[in-house]
Formats: sequence, structure tokens, C-alpha cells
Amino acid sequence: MILVTGATGNVGAELVRALAQLGEPVRALSRSGRADEGAPGAEAVAGDLNRPETVRNALDGVRALFLMSGYGGQREILADARAAGVRRVVMLSGKSAGTGDTGNAVAGYLIDAETAVRESGLPWTLLRPTSFMSNALRLVDQIRKGDAVRVPFPDVYTADIDPYDIAQVALTALLSDAYAGRALELTGPEALLPADRVRVLGEVLGRKLHAVGLTHEEARIELEAGMPKPYVDAFFSFFVDGTLDESVVLPTVQEVTGRAPRTFAEWARGHAEAF
Ligand SMILES: NC(=O)c1ccc[n+]([C@@H]2O[C@H](COP(=O)([O-])OP(=O)(O)OC[C@H]3O[C@@H](n4cnc5c(N)ncnc54)[C@H](OP(=O)(O)O)[C@@H]3O)[C@@H](O)[C@H]2O)c1
Repeated sequence: MILVTGATGNVGAELVRALAQLGEPVRALSRSGRADEGAPGAEAVAGDLNRPETVRNALDGVRALFLMSGYGGQREILADARAAGVRRVVMLSGKSAGTGDTGNAVAGYLIDAETAVRESGLPWTLLRPTSFMSNALRLVDQIRKGDAVRVPFPDVYTADIDPYDIAQVALTALLSDAYAGRALELTGPEALLPADRVRVLGEVLGRKLHAVGLTHEEARIELEAGMPKPYVDAFFSFFVDGTLDESVVLPTVQEVTGRAPRTFAEWARGHAEAF
């Protein structure tokens, strides 16, 4: 049995589907305990990663664990996993963990989560992806209203990754020892500007979308409306001060899965109905 946490999320849902398609027994944990129609056979369970006692039963009979990072109960859940006989843990971290900057709110929670995994006594693999292509879903409301799409950090190239590819790498790491003890940096196949992604979305949707770059001041106001200030500061540090470079394309997805990572155009075609 493989336990996937964050099972209804961008990465988790792809992973549950991929495991179910392979015929692997899979248990899908989220707070809602919602089942995915695309993953028949998966066992949906409810549990809260901030309350380890609600996750304990889900570890029964589990040999490999896919764990989201940054939740309050992570150390206890890892200890429970070890006690339950789990033999492998794969954690969804992020590229910024590699900066080592514990004073950055985003990098800091990822580094803390990675440390918990390394100290767990379980064989581990850490996944450090760049920004997700699915972050483009944040543009849905704007795109429904008109063709001008306001974007933060307009000058920053990032090689965003399709959560599908993260899930494919996770699948391999969960099913074999080949990547034990490795922190895998994962990227998509090309570095794009926010305006490039808006243009591609327009092409896929048959619309003349165009990006309007936000000034740093405007970006701060918009971001602070949706997330705590320390996280906004973290993204300003990454993308304005340049402490994180997500523009470099790496061959890891191809090396692990044997196929090239999906392009943003492929992601957009697969998610067009969401817009
Ligand atoms: N977005 C990016 O660009 C990016 C880049 C690098 C790394 N990451 C990492 O990837 C993570 C996001 O992954 P994602 O996009 O797959 O997430 P997501 O789509 O936001 O999904 C989160 C999943 O976790 C579940 N969840 C949330 N809180 C929970 C809790 N307390 N206990 C149990 N389950 C909980 C959610 O379901 P319920 O709500 O039903 O519980 C859902 O299944 C981030 O947290 C970050 O650490 C993200």
C-alpha cells in the first residue's frame, strides 16, 4: 500500500491516478477525504497533517509514503510511519530549499521539512520542483473578465513544471530504491516569462490575451491580499532580489522518467476547461 498525502492537490491527484493506473494499492489522504473519479480503486481517507493522530490509522500496511511539506505534524507523522513499518518516504519540497536560507519564510519551512525527513530514520527522496504550471490557475478570474492579464514579476523567466511530471518522478521514487538519499531538482522543459504563458493560454483558448506587468508596488499589494506578508517578502527576495533562479532547465525529469517534461502549452491544453 502507498499512502499519498495532499491527494486532491495538483501533484497528489496526478500521483494517485498514476499509481491506480499501474494497479498499485493506493490510499489517498486529504482533509476532505474526497475520492477522485479518475482513480478507481484508490482508497480515499480523511486526515489532517497538522493533527498526526488523525493520520495514524492511514499508515496501516503502508510501505511507501508521499508527504507534503510544511505541516505541523510532520515529525510525529514520520515517527509514526517508521513505527508502522513504512520503508520509503518521498517528500514534496521546492527548489528554494536549496538556497539554505532559513530566514526566508518559504525556503525556511521547506528546509525544516527536509530536515525532518532526513532525521526520520526512513530511506528518503526529496523533490525540489520549480514553480508549478498550475499556478496559472490563479489567472482564471482575470481571464474570464477580459483580455488584459495583470502579472507580478513580469521580467522573471522561470522553467515552471507540470505537476504531472512531479508526480511521475514521485512514482518512480516511491516504487524503487534508485533515488534514495537524493534531493532531485525538477524543472519544466523551457524558461518562459509570465507574458509568454499568458500568450500561450490565449492561443489555447482562442483569445487575444496580453499580459500587463505589475510594478513591484502593485504586486506587493495584490500578493498581500492573498497570502501572509512573510511569504510575500519571500517571493520578493526570490524574484526581485534574485536569491532564487528558476530559469535554468535541468534534465532530471527526462533522466528519471525516460521522457521529456511537458510544455506549458500541453499543460494549458489539458486544463483549458478551467478557464
Ligand atoms: N505552487 C508552486 O509553485 C510550488 C512550487 C514548489 C513547491 N511547492 C510545494 O507544493 C505544495 C503544493 O502542492 P499542490 O499544488 O499539490 O497542493 P494543492 O493543490 O494546494 O493541494 C494541497 C493538498 O493538500 C491537502 N491538504 C491541505 N491542507 C492539509 C492538511 N492540513 N492536512 C491534510 N491534507 C491537507 C489538500 O486537500 P484538503 O484541502 O481537502 O485537505 C490538497 O489535497 C506547496 O505546499 C509547496 O510546499 C509548490
